[in-house]
Amino acid sequence: MTAKTLPLHGTPAPLPSCHALIPSAGSGSRTGLGRPKQYEVLAGRRILDHTLAAFLAVPALASVTVVVAPEQAADEGLPAPVQVLAVGGSTRAESVFNGLSALLAQGVDADDWVLVHDAARCLVTPAQIQALMTACLEDAVGGLLALPLPDTLKVSSAGEGPDRVRQTLERADKWLAQTPQMFRLGLLHRALMQAAASGFAGVTDEASAIEALGLAPLMVPGSAQNVKVTYPEDLALAEAVLLYRQTQARHFPATATTSALTTEPAP
Ligand code: CTP
Ligand code: MG
Repeated sequence: MTAKTLPLHGTPAPLPSCHALIPSAGSGSRTGLGRPKQYEVLAGRRILDHTLAAFLAVPALASVTVVVAPEQAADEGLPAPVQVLAVGGSTRAESVFNGLSALLAQGVDADDWVLVHDAARCLVTPAQIQALMTACLEDAVGGLLALPLPDTLKVSSAGEGPDRVRQTLERADKWLAQTPQMFRLGLLHRALMQAAASGFAGVTDEASAIEALGLAPLMVPGSAQNVKVTYPEDLALAEAVLLYRQTQARHFPATATTSALTTEPAP
């Protein structure tokens, strides 16, 4: 037995638990639906329900919590193991911070891990979530799913008129940050508390708050399909992928991913 599983005194230390926290308190303004996008039905289920199905199919998770806006407090229809907290804030970072504060107040251990995931990123699969957990559980900092930049990256000139290219950047070291992002609950809470002092300026994901502490999160290669529904055309794209997975699961049940099975709409 290694020192890791045999502490100096007494019984082995219990492994830290992993919790999922899903910020779902946004208004979805860029999708132009006139209502929060996470409640839009795609391939027979709400976007939020597809997202939750992926997390509920990961047995290693100790809990799944959704942060909704206070005015959505009466939201119903979420599966029983999911905890709903109506503590959403005015920014994504504030919603996450409020959710973490609530988990700590409930007695969740600050050394436990938390996986923060956008409700609007409904194409994530249990395998991708598991891959992030496997990579981060042994890491001192934690990390995020990310995608090496597939396209050429341009910088535009500031000023009047249409955008024109000012510069083309080297893309070899550029990645697109996705979610889930996985960090120790206490560390992430401290990072976001520090960011709160400046109104969460520049904190568009968990990793950027952790980076501001001088730490370097691990980037775990994700999938190009793990898109965030943001603009109107993303709705059609996400629905097409969900329908494709459902068809695959029906025709090839033996080879289908757990995700495809669990995102099948309820009869
Ligand atoms: N989110 C949140 N609280 C906020 C803003 C966003 O919990 N105050 C959540 C969203 O519900 C979404 C995730 O954070 O699941 C990613 O945010 P984004 O894609 O920007 O969603 P919205 O803020 O809802 O959309 P928009 O920016 O177009 O208004
Ligand atoms: Mg937003």
